Amino acid sequence: MGSLWGLWALLWGLFWGVRCPPPTPPRPVIVVHGLLDSARDFGRLQEFIAESHPGTNVSVLDLFDRGQSLRPLWVQVEGFRRAVEPIMANAAGGVHLICYSQGGLICRALLCTMEQHNVHSFISLAAPQMGQYGDTQYLRWLFPRHMKSNLYRLCYTALGQGVSICNYWNDPHHRDLYLNSSDFLAPLNDERLHPNASGPPGATLQPGSRTCCASATSSSSGAPTTASSPHGSPGATPKTPRRP
Ligand SMILES: *[C@@H]1O[C@H](CO)[C@@H](O)[C@H](O)[C@H]1NC(C)=O
Ligand SMILES: *[C@@H]1O[C@H](CO)[C@@H](O)[C@H](O)[C@H]1NC(C)=O
Ligand SMILES: *[C@@H]1O[C@H](CO)[C@@H](O)[C@H](O)[C@H]1NC(C)=O
Repeated sequence: MGSLWGLWALLWGLFWGVRCPPPTPPRPVIVVHGLLDSARDFGRLQEFIAESHPGTNVSVLDLFDRGQSLRPLWVQVEGFRRAVEPIMANAAGGVHLICYSQGGLICRALLCTMEQHNVHSFISLAAPQMGQYGDTQYLRWLFPRHMKSNLYRLCYTALGQGVSICNYWNDPHHRDLYLNSSDFLAPLNDERLHPNASGPPGATLQPGSRTCCASATSSSSGAPTTASSPHGSPGATPKTPRRP
């Protein structure tokens, strides 16, 4: 009799064990655009996600479009933070972040400074995580009188740091100036340990904390976040001859 009960318990356990859990909805995807583009430029990506993962809610954030994307990156980080918070609050299972080019830096700064986030995976798509030092068509358009080798004169000033590109301009020939002047990338990459190198007022990025290094693989909330970047290995020389 005892063995019958044992068999019954075993079968019951197997029944519950192999029962499929209810299907969970796919995690929402948040897309952050890059320099000089806008939410409208991501139609193809939206279509692709809709085809490959039907039912996924994709939000391409329509903020700091076109010329507005030149605004200082900490200002943009704050704007995007306000936009992602309600989406995250509605996503019990977390969200995926896909951040293109300059957007990849914005997203990394978000992950580093948000008190709470539920980013499950962070895809940094072609983002200049170690900065940019490259002469490109758009650069010549933006700064017609300043070529690659001279841009440091503008970028490493208080005025220059008011332009997003200068926030991550990383001129290897003027390393000291970069470390002294970069308000965004140097503190974000922990290249400058400065008492106030903590981003915008109230940000939680701690000087000396390693969570925001170029190869960041952890998140402040402990969520399983992975950061990837084609240029993301610490010590790599910036080499981004393309639009960030
Ligand atoms: C998609 O997500 C946004 C932001 O959370 C929400 O406002 C919207 O209602 C969602 N759409 C659907 C179809 O779930
Ligand atoms: C960087 O700042 C330090 C400390 O203020 C200063 O001694 C140094 O001259 C600065 N370097 C440059 C290249 O401005
Ligand atoms: C750091 O910030 C405080 C308060 O904003 C300011 O008084 C101080 O001068 C700053 N220190 C440096 C080294 O910039």
